[in-house]
Amino acid sequence: MSILKVHIYGSPILSKIVDPILKITDDLHKIVDDMFETMYSEDGIGLSANQVGLDMSLCIVDFNLAEDKLGKKVFINMEILEKEGECLGEEGCLSVPDIREKVNRAKKIKIKYQDINFNEIEEEYIGFPARVLQHEYDHLHGIFFVDRLSPLKKSFLKSKLKRLQELSINEQ
Ligand code: NI
Repeated sequence: MSILKVHIYGSPILSKIVDPILKITDDLHKIVDDMFETMYSEDGIGLSANQVGLDMSLCIVDFNLAEDKLGKKVFINMEILEKEGECLGEEGCLSVPDIREKVNRAKKIKIKYQDINFNEIEEEYIGFPARVLQHEYDHLHGIFFVDRLSPLKKSFLKSKLKRLQELSINEQ
């Protein structure tokens, strides 16, 4: 397994809608393993493929890290079918280091996705797991959690975000 480079705010691949995955390949198993390895090394709970520079609709979550006992999961081509309620909770992101803010999310979601064996699955998530999945879903659609803040709150982060963007350009 290898640790992949995590792209940060400003990297173009984080600002586009990723491509769907059409079939499971051996490559994909390796990518998933490397993504878990990368996520654990960075102390993350969830990670999207485009955060490691891959243009594909894939994200991983280890819900055990949030004490939710749902285990490790792989979500391919995730779609959110229903959203219910609202709740405010703190979020951070491996691609937006050193910033944590409260974000409004749906409290409960119903999703559809394919697992690593390409089985179609429909599930409901509530509370923190639902928050993590909405955060990853946003990544796969080019949206950062800071984009969900009010314009005023986001304006307070302007210089920090600009610095990340510059850092990201220098890395390319
Ligand atoms: Ni994130």
